[in-house]
Amino acid sequence: MNKLCLLGLLVSLASQSAFADSPAAAPLQDKQAFIANLLKQMSVEEKIGQLRLISIGPEMPREKIREEIAAGRIGGTFNSITRDENRPMQDAAMRGRLKIPMFFAYDVIHGHRTIFPISLGLAASWDMQAIAQVGRTSALEAAADGIDMTFAPMVDIARDPRWGRTSEGFGEDTYLVSRISRVMVESFQGHSPANADSIMASVKHFALYGAVEGGRDYNTVDMSPTRMYNEYLPPYRAAIDAGAGGVMVALNSINGVPATSNTWLMNDLLRRDWGFKGVTVSDHGAITELVRHGVAADGKQAAQLAIKAGIDMSMNDTLYGQELPGLLKSGAVSPAELDNAVREILGAKYDMGLFADPYRRIGQAKDDPADTYADSRLHRDIARDVARRSLVLLENRQQTLPLKKSGTIALVGPLADAPIDMMGSWAAAGRPHQSVTVREGLRRALGDKARVLYAKGSNVTGDKAVLDYLNFLNFDAPEIVDDPRPAAVLIDEAVKAARQSDVVVAVVGESRGMSHESSSRTTLEIPAVQRELIKALKATGKPLVLVLMNGRPLSLAWEREQADAILETWFSGTEGGNAIADVLLGDYNPSGKLAITFPRSVGQIPMYYNHLRIGRPFTPGKPGNYTSQYFEEPNGPLYPFGYGLSYSTFSVSAPSLSSTTLKQGQSLEVSVRVKNTGQRDGETVVQLYLQDVAASMSRPVKELKNFQKLMLKAGEERTLHFTVQPDDLKFYNSQLQWVAEPGEFNVQVGLDSETVQQQRFELL
Ligand code: BGC
Repeated sequence: MNKLCLLGLLVSLASQSAFADSPAAAPLQDKQAFIANLLKQMSVEEKIGQLRLISIGPEMPREKIREEIAAGRIGGTFNSITRDENRPMQDAAMRGRLKIPMFFAYDVIHGHRTIFPISLGLAASWDMQAIAQVGRTSALEAAADGIDMTFAPMVDIARDPRWGRTSEGFGEDTYLVSRISRVMVESFQGHSPANADSIMASVKHFALYGAVEGGRDYNTVDMSPTRMYNEYLPPYRAAIDAGAGGVMVALNSINGVPATSNTWLMNDLLRRDWGFKGVTVSDHGAITELVRHGVAADGKQAAQLAIKAGIDMSMNDTLYGQELPGLLKSGAVSPAELDNAVREILGAKYDMGLFADPYRRIGQAKDDPADTYADSRLHRDIARDVARRSLVLLENRQQTLPLKKSGTIALVGPLADAPIDMMGSWAAAGRPHQSVTVREGLRRALGDKARVLYAKGSNVTGDKAVLDYLNFLNFDAPEIVDDPRPAAVLIDEAVKAARQSDVVVAVVGESRGMSHESSSRTTLEIPAVQRELIKALKATGKPLVLVLMNGRPLSLAWEREQADAILETWFSGTEGGNAIADVLLGDYNPSGKLAITFPRSVGQIPMYYNHLRIGRPFTPGKPGNYTSQYFEEPNGPLYPFGYGLSYSTFSVSAPSLSSTTLKQGQSLEVSVRVKNTGQRDGETVVQLYLQDVAASMSRPVKELKNFQKLMLKAGEERTLHFTVQPDDLKFYNSQLQWVAEPGEFNVQVGLDSETVQQQRFELL
């Protein structure tokens, strides 16, 4: 054992001294034996106590909570997020009869104190290394604040951008989301979720939450088994295979059965078929909601259904505590069913290293940060780098971008100087005043080289009801600061600034609350007051750059006609303003690609690139040719999946194949020449799609199966190789068998999902 390990052991032994005399401490090396031994010593009340996960709000009576913990009536908390908040609770647990440690969880979704771009933006980086840095940095920061578990990653496939939680996930594509799911779990958990600088990942929302009908949050999900298995389930599976210790169960029903009472989902699929060995947690209040779903007559039945279906831990729900004693007494729930749930919770605590050292992440008071919110605790460099990688250049006519670092720039728009919106929804412990706005980013980058004239130009929305709705989100301060001046006055001010400038940069889109839980929309348009502003700016004749902030695809057909350049920035986090300035001024060459399709209008939804083939695909030609289309607007998306421009240009050759046949057990090599044909060094993402030409059932028009992001110097050309194996051709057929069917396949390669070149091979 080296010195460092020895030191680590001593430290951990010292801090577990409170626990070392616990009757349960005996065989700590052997997880199963340890837990079995502990279970034997627990009363029914103590077991039920472990199932309870409570939210800690500022209003909660701390003394009372500590009493409950010491009495063994709480298993874990969420939303308490500093070491000195959590320590007294862990102390209380150590005063308990069996000294079973608490765990502390939190929604660490895209950063903890440092906020990174929202997940949809992270996905647009197509950069697994950058995403791994996000997971690792978030884990380091959260663990340093005494947090043991995150309710993330959120890997719900989203194909209906009306759904506000589209912002929280990684987009529409099964393959890309699955890759990211794995990376997030591995980087949150590090080498082991037991490490002091790791947090356990609880993947969510199991399952299919992204497919809520009409994109309306909490609505039902109805889905064919083949779609479920081929398109929606793989990202959760990827998280499980990567070792995620927890699963949060979705609020929605699936084909009529709520996930929370769904035995097939949790017992058959998750545990039996996928071999999941961790803890399941219901979503907020979901057990009570079984009554409202209409599958339980009352709370008693709801508790019974949930525990039998496999919900181990109940989040902010009192029903397990109230009803399980009676249900056990009557025999409606068996002692073994209760033990199964408790075993998983204790197992998760064991895996988080909490039995070995309950203070593993809380540490000792003397080591607490002097200022929890100190800027020195942030990871700004990583945040800026990742944010730059997430930005997507949608338009750039006449090389409007990058901007010159001289002359006068008019900076307008309600989001140009909006610190809270930079962070996006689910911004964990991020502090708005620590985020860099676009205005601040430009000011820092330009210094006195160029003049920036700022005017707000409009409010986020002119609709009072919408404003009131959005302001429900923030309890401390109004979420949106509304300028009381009339819209025309605001516009006039912006137009005046524009007239005195060489170029106009308008930061427009959604406030962060518009892309949030419970924030579903019926339109994908930028609010009317902001469009009025864009119209007035366009009328000045000055070059117009739109910097978009939003957490879902927007319908931008009209904006595309007005603007000379459009930069999609999502909600880009603590360092967003610096990152955006880097791209606007050409200090970073944008390389992001959309991880979700941007439709032309809300009426086209659902619109995603990998839809199944149909008998009458759209064929351009004379009107009324009876092919699949809407007759009021052009077919297809405005911006396809995988699309994004650069300040350089790239070309990709047609793919060449190492063989035109592929045998079981063998692989095929696909090669392309990629060239940077522009004047600047830059990165691009080469994407490989496959299409099954004829199968036992209709298959997608194409499916992403691999990609490589690469940097090429101006003029540089390189050959890229991809490997295709029979496993890449597998899908769940109508009997839900995982098969690759012999026959022809097209392999397509390109820089977005639409513009591809293809070759054919045959699986023998
Ligand atoms: C959300 C979950 C979240 C939980 C705890 C719920 O409203 O659906 O995603 O993890 O709250 O904050």
